[in-house]
Amino acid sequence: MEVKTSLLDNMIGVGDMVLLEPLNEDSFIVNLRNRFDHNEIYTYIGSVVISMNPYRSLPIYTPQKVEEYRNRNFYELSPHIYALADEAYRSLRDQDKDQCILITGESGAGKTEASKLVMSYVAAVCGKGQEVNKVKEQLLQSNPVLEAFGNAKTMRNDNSSRFGKYMDIEFDFKGDPLGGVISNYLLEKSRVCKQPRGERNFHIFYQLLSGASDDTLMKLKLDRDFSKYNYLSLDSANVNGLDDAASFRTVRNAMQIVGFMEAEVQSVLELVAAVLKLGNIEFKPESRVNGFDESRVKDKNDLKEMCELLGIEQSVLERAFSYRTVEAKMEKMSTTLNVAQAYYARDALAKNLYSRLFSWLVTRINESIKAQAKTRHKVMGVLDIYGFEIFEEGDNSFEQFIINYCNEKLQQIFIELTLREEQEEYIREDIEWTNIEYFNNAIICDLIENNQNGILAMLDEECLRPGTVTDDTFLDKLNTICAEHQHFESRLNKNSKFLTDHSLPHSCFRIQHYAGKVLYRVEGFVDKNNDLLYRDLSQAMYKATHSLMRQLFPEGNPAKVNLKRPPTAGFQFKASVGVLMKNLQTKNPNYIRCIKPNDKKVAHIFTDSLVCHQVRYLGLVENVRVRRAGYAFRQPYESCLERYKMLCKKTWPHWRGPARDGVEVLLTDCSVPTEEFAYGRSKIFIRNPRTLFTLEERRRACLEDLATLIQKIYRGWKSRTHFLLLKKSQVVVAAWYRRYAQQNKYQKIKSATLVMQSFVRGWKARNILRQLKYEKRCKEAVTTIAAYWHGTQVRREYRKFFRANAGKKIYDFTIQRIMQKYFLGLKTTTMSPMDNTWPAKPYGFLEGAHTQLRRIFHLWRCKKYRGQFTEEKKAVYEEKLEASEIFKDKKALYPSSVSQPFKGDYLEIQKNPKYQKLNSAMEEKVLLADLVNKINRANGKGSPRLFLLTKSNFVLADQKTGQVKASVPLPDLASVSVSTQSDGFFALKLKEGSASASKGDFLLSSEHLIEIITKLHRIGTTAADRDQINIDISDEFLVQFKQDKVCVKFIQGGPKNGNSAACKRKNNRLLEVSVPSP
Ligand SMILES: Nc1ncnc2c1ncn2[C@@H]1O[C@H](COP(=O)(O)OP(=O)(O)O)[C@@H](O)[C@H]1O
Ligand SMILES: [Mg+2]
Repeated sequence: MEVKTSLLDNMIGVGDMVLLEPLNEDSFIVNLRNRFDHNEIYTYIGSVVISMNPYRSLPIYTPQKVEEYRNRNFYELSPHIYALADEAYRSLRDQDKDQCILITGESGAGKTEASKLVMSYVAAVCGKGQEVNKVKEQLLQSNPVLEAFGNAKTMRNDNSSRFGKYMDIEFDFKGDPLGGVISNYLLEKSRVCKQPRGERNFHIFYQLLSGASDDTLMKLKLDRDFSKYNYLSLDSANVNGLDDAASFRTVRNAMQIVGFMEAEVQSVLELVAAVLKLGNIEFKPESRVNGFDESRVKDKNDLKEMCELLGIEQSVLERAFSYRTVEAKMEKMSTTLNVAQAYYARDALAKNLYSRLFSWLVTRINESIKAQAKTRHKVMGVLDIYGFEIFEEGDNSFEQFIINYCNEKLQQIFIELTLREEQEEYIREDIEWTNIEYFNNAIICDLIENNQNGILAMLDEECLRPGTVTDDTFLDKLNTICAEHQHFESRLNKNSKFLTDHSLPHSCFRIQHYAGKVLYRVEGFVDKNNDLLYRDLSQAMYKATHSLMRQLFPEGNPAKVNLKRPPTAGFQFKASVGVLMKNLQTKNPNYIRCIKPNDKKVAHIFTDSLVCHQVRYLGLVENVRVRRAGYAFRQPYESCLERYKMLCKKTWPHWRGPARDGVEVLLTDCSVPTEEFAYGRSKIFIRNPRTLFTLEERRRACLEDLATLIQKIYRGWKSRTHFLLLKKSQVVVAAWYRRYAQQNKYQKIKSATLVMQSFVRGWKARNILRQLKYEKRCKEAVTTIAAYWHGTQVRREYRKFFRANAGKKIYDFTIQRIMQKYFLGLKTTTMSPMDNTWPAKPYGFLEGAHTQLRRIFHLWRCKKYRGQFTEEKKAVYEEKLEASEIFKDKKALYPSSVSQPFKGDYLEIQKNPKYQKLNSAMEEKVLLADLVNKINRANGKGSPRLFLLTKSNFVLADQKTGQVKASVPLPDLASVSVSTQSDGFFALKLKEGSASASKGDFLLSSEHLIEIITKLHRIGTTAADRDQINIDISDEFLVQFKQDKVCVKFIQGGPKNGNSAACKRKNNRLLEVSVPSP
C-alpha cells in the first residue's frame, strides 16, 4: 500500500510560512533559524521556496532524493528545491504551461547553485537518449564557460556571478530538452580594471595564467606570474579551495562540448591576453607649447605585443591614446588627451573589450545550444539575477540602482502573478474572492522608469545635454522633478522634511524601495550611464586583422560613421528588463528566494541581523501576507479526508461517499467554526493556520490513541497466538510421551510372553523331535534292510543281462536306426531309368553299400522298365540296340536315327493296292519295305526303287509298276559298305561267284539307312545257317559294277543342292559323293 505522506509530517517549526502563527518578522526568523539548525534549509511560502545557503554539502541531492521527489505532489514531502523543480517540470510537460523559475537573493546566497540544482533535476527526470543527452550535456556545460568569464571571487562569494543570467530551456511535447537560449544582463565590467580589496578579477585571467601550457602562454605573449599584470589584484590571487589550473581544463573541455572550434577558443584567449596587456600600458605627460600636457605611452613593449597579438598597427593605437577626434556639424577636430584622459580611455577600452567578448560568448553559446527543430517548444526559463543590493553607509552606486530597479520589477510581476494565480484558483474553486490588501510597488517602478520624468530618463537627458554635465547637475535635476514623489528623498529637496535628516548626505538621494530604503551616491552615475569609448579607439580596434576583434567593434567601421550617440547603459538595461518582464509574464512563475545565513561563508552560523535584513528586502513577510490574505491553507478533499478521517467516527476507518461530503461531515463533527473554512470545488480552504494546527494536534492525539489501540490489538493477538502455539505444542508433546510410555510397556509384556512361549514351544518341539527322530530311525532301518535285500535279489536275477550284451544291443539298435533313417531317406528317388540323381552318402561306412544300392536300384528300375515292354516293342529295342552296336561312334548319321522308331514297312505294302502284285510275289513276310535310290554307275544319278527285305532275301522292284527287278538271296550278300558320314549311301556287295553276282553290286541310298543295315545284320545273326554279314564302314570303298570295280569316295563339301548328298561320276573308276558338312 502506498503510504500517503504530507509536508506536515515530522515538521520542524512550520514547513510552510503560511502556517506561521503569529506572523511577524521575529517569528519568521525564529522559524527559519529553527529549521536551519535542524538542517532544513528549505521552507515554503505557499509555492515559493526559501533556500538558506548551508555553506556545506548536504546529503539531500542524491539520485535517491531525485527519485523520492519525482512525480510527487508539492505538499507531499518536506520542502525541497526538487519539489519546486518537479512541479514546474510536470506542469510544463503535462499541462503545456511555459514555466519560469525566478531565483533571487543577494550575492553568495546560493542563487547560482539553486539554478544548477534545478537544471540537474530536470536533466535527471526528463527523457533519455543519445540526442537528448547531448543537448542536456551542452546546456549543463554552458555553465562552466560563463562562470569562468562572468564570475569572480568577491568578499561575499568565492564564485560570485558578476552578471545576470536568464536561460530559456526548450522542451518538445514529450518533455525532452531540445536546446536553450541564454540572455545576459549587466556584466560588472568595472571589475576588469579595478577590484575592491580582497576581491579578484574574473576567474578566466587567473585560470589562463595558471592552467595554460607554456606553449600557449608563449603564443599569447603572457607570463605566468600574476604580479606582472596591473589589472590583476594580487592580495587574493590565490583563493582557498579554488584550483585555477584544473578549472581551466574544465573550461576548455566545456567549450569543446558546447561546440567551440579550436580557432575560436584561441581567438577568445587572445582577447583575454590583450586585456591583460592593455592594463600594462602606462602613460607619461609630455608638455606642449600651448601649456597643456599631452600623454605619451611610457614603455612601448606591452603596446607592441598587444598590437602584434591583435594585428593592429602600433602607431594607430598609440595615436588613439594621445588624441581624440571630435566631430561636430561635419567638422572634425582633434584634441589632445592628458594622462588622466589616456588612462580613462585605456580602461574604457579594456572594459568594453571584455564585456563585448562576454556578450559574444553568450551569443556563440546560444548558437550551439539553440533548438534545431522548428516545432513549437515548451519553455522553462531560469532567472539567476542579483537580489536587492543594499550597501550600508550609502555606498550604493549606479549598478545597485540598476539592480534594485530590476528587483523592483520582479517584485511587481511576482505580486501580479501571485495575485492572479490566487484569484484564478478562487474562481476555479468557486470561492468568493476576498479582496487582498497589499502594497503595489508599481509606483516605485514608475519613479525609476517613467519615460518623461523617471530617474533613468532624466539621467539620459542629462548625459545627452550639451554643456557641462556632472553628477551634481543630475542630482539637481532629480531634486526639482521628483521632489513630490513619496518614495524619493533628498536633502536638497524642496520638501523640507529632509532638510535636517543627517543620515542623508548632500551628494546622495534615497529611494524607498518596497523592500526598504536605499541610499544612492550620485557620483559616477553620468559616466557609467554614458559608458563612453572614444571613437578613435573603436576605429583602431576595427583596423585589427584579428577577425573576432573587428566583429566586437562594428561601430569602428569608418564606412558606417554614426554621429548618433550609442544608447546609454541605463537605456539599454531598461529595454532588456522590459523584454525580460514581458517574457516572464507569459509564463507560470516559480520562485526561489535565496538567503545567506552569515557573512563568513561558513556552515552552522545563523546571523539574525543579516537574515533579517535579507528577509526584509526580499519582502518575504509581505509575501506571506499576500499569500495568506484570503485563506491561508488549502488542500484537496481527498488528502484532507485521508489525513483527518480518524477524528470522526463516521469517517473512520473508511468513508464511502464523495470526499467532499466526508470532509463536511468531518469538520462539522469536529465543530470547527464555519467562518474558518470554505468549500471549493476540489479543495477545502482554511482561513487560519490555527484551525489547521488544531486539526493537526487532534490528529496527533488521535494517532496516539490509534497507535495504542493497534498496539493493544497486536499485543493481544500476539499473546494469544503464542498461547495457542504453546497449547498445541503441549498436546503434541503429551501425545508423543503417552505413546512412548505405552510402547515401552507393551514391548516389555511382549518380550516376556515371547520368552514363555519360546520355552513352552521349545519343550514341546523337543518332545516331538525326539519322537520323530525315533520314527525316522526305525524307517531308515527298515528301508536299509529292504533295500539290501531287494538289491541282492535283483542282482541275483539280472546279473546275466547286464554288461555282456548291452554294448552290442545298443550298437545294433543304433545301426538299425541309422539304416532305417538312411533307407527312408532313399525313398524319394524316382523310377525313371533316366534319372541320375541319388542322395549323397550320409556316413562313410555306408560307402560301398551306397554305390551298390545305387547300382542295384538302377538295375532294378531298368528291369522294371523293361518288364513293361511287349514282344514287338522288345524286338524294336533290340534292333535299336543292335544299330547302336554297329554304328555308334562310327557313322555320323547314327545319332539322328536314334529317335526315329524303326517302322519296317514304310510303304504299307499289304494295305496299299498298288503293291498288291508285289506283295503276293513275296513268299515270306516282308520285314522292311522302303523307297530307295539306286545309283546309276554311269552318271552317279539315282533312280527310285522299292526295296523289300524278307528273312531270306532282299528285293528291288520298280517303283511304279511294282515289278521285281532283282531279288537277291541273303546268303549271296557278302558285305555292306557305308561311309562314316551322315549320308544315306550304302553298297550291298555280293559274294563273288554267286548267282546274283553277275549283275554286280548295288549302290543304293536311303533315308532309312541305319534301319536297313541293322535289319540286314540281324537277319544274318539270327539265321543259324549263315555267316555274319560284314559291315564295312569307311569313306572309300570299292563297288563291283558288272566288270569294273569302281571306287566310291566320300568327301565333305558344301551343300550344293539341298541337304542331301550328291553323287558324281568323276572317271571310270571313281564315284565321288559329296556330303554336306554337318
Ligand atoms: N545548496 C547548497 N549547498 C551547499 N553549498 C551551497 C549551496 N548553495 C550555495 N552554496 C555555497 O555557497 C556559495 C555561493 O553560492 P552561489 O550560488 O554562487 O551564490 P550566488 O549565485 O547567489 O551569488 C557556493 O559556492 C557554495 O559553496
Ligand atoms: Mg551567482
